[in-house]
Amino acid sequence: MSRRAVEASAPGKLILLGEHAVVWGQPALAGAVALHTRVRIEEAEGEPFLDLPIRDARLDLALARILPARVNLRIRSDLPLGRGMGSSASLSLALVRAVALWNGESPCDAQLLERSLELEGVFHGRPSGVDSSVVLGGGLLRFQRLEARAGSPPGELARLDLRPVPSPPLPLVVLDSGQPGDTSAMVARVAARRPGIDPILAQIGQGVDRAIAEIQDIEALGQHMSRNQGWLSEIGVSTPHIDALCAFAEGAGALGAKLSGAGGGGVVIALLQPEHLPAFLARADKAGVRALAPRFPAS
Ligand code: MEV
Repeated sequence: MSRRAVEASAPGKLILLGEHAVVWGQPALAGAVALHTRVRIEEAEGEPFLDLPIRDARLDLALARILPARVNLRIRSDLPLGRGMGSSASLSLALVRAVALWNGESPCDAQLLERSLELEGVFHGRPSGVDSSVVLGGGLLRFQRLEARAGSPPGELARLDLRPVPSPPLPLVVLDSGQPGDTSAMVARVAARRPGIDPILAQIGQGVDRAIAEIQDIEALGQHMSRNQGWLSEIGVSTPHIDALCAFAEGAGALGAKLSGAGGGGVVIALLQPEHLPAFLARADKAGVRALAPRFPAS
C-alpha cells in the first residue's frame, strides 16, 4: 500500500522597484519569477525525517509551528536562498499549501496569505507583505502596504499588464552576488536612519509610480531601475560588490541595473533589450559572474 503524501509549490519573486520604501508605506513594483520551492509531506513509516535545503534555526521554528506530527518533509528550491528572491515567502506559501492539503482544507487566497505571512514573520520580523502577496498572486503587481488591521490584507494590489497581451517575459537577468543578505538586519538599518531618510523613501515611491505610468517603455524602466539603485545606496543597503555588479551590467549594455530585495548581499537585476540577452549572458559567463534569466513575470 502506498504511503499518503501531498505536494505543493510556490514561485519566488523579484522586486523591480521600491524595496525598503514599501515597508514604510510607499508603493513597490514586483512580480513572481518562474523559480519554485516544492514541498512534499508524506506519512512517516519509521522515524520521521526532514530533507531540507538548509538547516536554519528560523526554519526549525517555522516547521515546529506548522508541521503535522509523524510526517516526513522534503523541501526542494530552485531559488538561491537568502538572496532577495523571495525564498522565505515562497517556502512559507508552499508549506502552508501543503499542510492545508494534508489536513484536507481548501483555504481561500486571503487565508493562504494570512497563514503564509504569519510564517514569513518567523524569517524576518516586519515583512511589508509584498513578497507573500506577489508569490501568491503571480504576475506583475503594484503593492502598497495598508494600515495593519485584524482580518484585512497587508496591502493594496494592482495587477499590471505588459503589452502585447498575454504578457511577455521581461528581458531581465539576475546576477547573484553569492552573498546572502539578512532582511531583518537591513530593514532595521533603514529604520534606524528614519526620519532623516524619509525624503529619499518618498522619492523611491514617486519613482515607482512614474515607472508604472510608462511601464510599456523598457528604456524608461531601465532608467528608473538605475535611479532607484542610487537611492538604495543612499539609504545604506547596497554594498561595494553590488555596486560593482551594477556597473558590470551597465558596462555590458544593460538598460538599467539595481539590487533586488533587502540588499546587503543578494542579487542584482539587469534589464536588457531582448536582442542583447544572449551576448550579455555570454559576457557574464566569461567574467565569472553567476547570471540567470528566469521567466519574469511568471504566473
Ligand atoms: C524584501 O524582499 C523587501 C523589503 O522591502 C522588506 C519587505 O518589504 O518586507 C526589504
